[in-house]
Amino acid sequence: MPAAWESLIHDVPDYPTPGVMFKDITPLLADHDAFAAVVEALAAAGRDADGNVVVDKVVGMEARGFILAAPVALALGAGFVPVRKVGKLPRATHAVNYSLEYGEATLELHTDAIAPGERVLLVDDVLATGGTVAATRELVSRCGGVPHAVAVLMELTFLPGRDAVGELPLHALCQV
Ligand code: PRP
Repeated sequence: MPAAWESLIHDVPDYPTPGVMFKDITPLLADHDAFAAVVEALAAAGRDADGNVVVDKVVGMEARGFILAAPVALALGAGFVPVRKVGKLPRATHAVNYSLEYGEATLELHTDAIAPGERVLLVDDVLATGGTVAATRELVSRCGGVPHAVAVLMELTFLPGRDAVGELPLHALCQV
């Protein structure tokens, strides 16, 4: 049975371009109980079977990933780290190019955002082609961090995003 909060993800046809069905999570975010339930469910990916926190940092990917990853980090007592689109971080960064449906983009991470050996949970709203997750994994690894798991609100199963997650555990709260 779908979770109560799933009905608060609204389908918006033909946005941002014709033929695309956009998944609008803003009604879910505006509902305290739904938002809290989603944050707690994502945070479970950073705990072991006994409920102990097993990550040091939670990384969120710009922009909607920030909204989910920051409260997940607080719930776990872990640090929050933003992965940003190119040119937005003010100090030295690692940068990784990744493929979009049409063209390429670049994501960046401060070189000192994650200490060598720190365990990292990756949090985003949607796993689609997996390009964002693959680039973020690479950025975390370049810092010497250890990717622990990927947690997303939605996995679009008609796209190959799961391949980009590879051997990491993938916690997808719902599948579309
Ligand atoms: C969306 C979404 C994920 C990513 C997933 O972000 O929030 O981060 O795409 O797609 P992928 O698996 O194909 O990489 P987008 O780049 O649209 O940025 P936004 O959150 O700033 O809108």
